Amino acid sequence: MRIVFFTGAGVSAESGIRTFRDSDGLWEQYRIEDVATPQAFARDPALVLHFYDLRREQVLKAVPNAAHRAIADLERDFDVHVVTQNIDDLHERAGSGRVLHLHGEIRKARSTANPSLVVPINGPSLKLGDRCPKGSQLRPHIVWFGEEVPMLPVAAALVEQADVLVVVGSSLQVYPAAGLVHHAPPGCPVHLVDPGEVSLPGARFTHWKEKAGEGVPKLAAFLRETYG
Ligand code: APR
Repeated sequence: MRIVFFTGAGVSAESGIRTFRDSDGLWEQYRIEDVATPQAFARDPALVLHFYDLRREQVLKAVPNAAHRAIADLERDFDVHVVTQNIDDLHERAGSGRVLHLHGEIRKARSTANPSLVVPINGPSLKLGDRCPKGSQLRPHIVWFGEEVPMLPVAAALVEQADVLVVVGSSLQVYPAAGLVHHAPPGCPVHLVDPGEVSLPGARFTHWKEKAGEGVPKLAAFLRETYG
């Protein structure tokens, strides 16, 4: 039985990583267009690198919470896949073995000359002058606004094979990622764990209106009772 989790910023909120749209369109005091677009990196690469250094420091300090752990534990009983919009590595550190990052990974860098050259970042910072093995400047391995989402077709194929789809902590406002929900096969139960009002136009779902740290362990128990 395949369970696909589709997670957003809310799954990491209780680990101390702030969500995006709960903060007035500002991302820790920065306007998104100043730091998370290719134009911003072209205009002021040092500012953009500094912004992601701050995000990386926060991620390095954070630890997985009960929601990440409950998702990882389900691998003992089900074929679990995680598709996450998050750039942190908290699912991996909780023990999830199959995690697909739609929007990139904060602990990795990629060459500005060759997008397939991806390297781990050792330590908290990535600086101007840090180069890929071929000699080009490295950039954060992040999908910026206005860029393609290369993992989207892979994620869509996973959702198309789901027996159960679970959305955790996403406002489902950012496309194309949010559209993944519509790839669930007909009749596939869709569960949503989010304390906020989230609408999923055209989709029927069961809303567990709770924080991820409480709602996901409860949902995991429900899945074991129902399908285990
Ligand atoms: N548990 C579960 N959900 C929570 C919690 C919590 N403790 N706290 C907040 N939430 C919910 C909010 O109710 C909201 O629905 O998390 C959601 C966060 O929504 P967004 O901030 O919009 O985050 P997300 O949907 O992941 O954003 C998608 O937007 O900025 C881009 O690329 C970035 O991947 C990101 C994308």
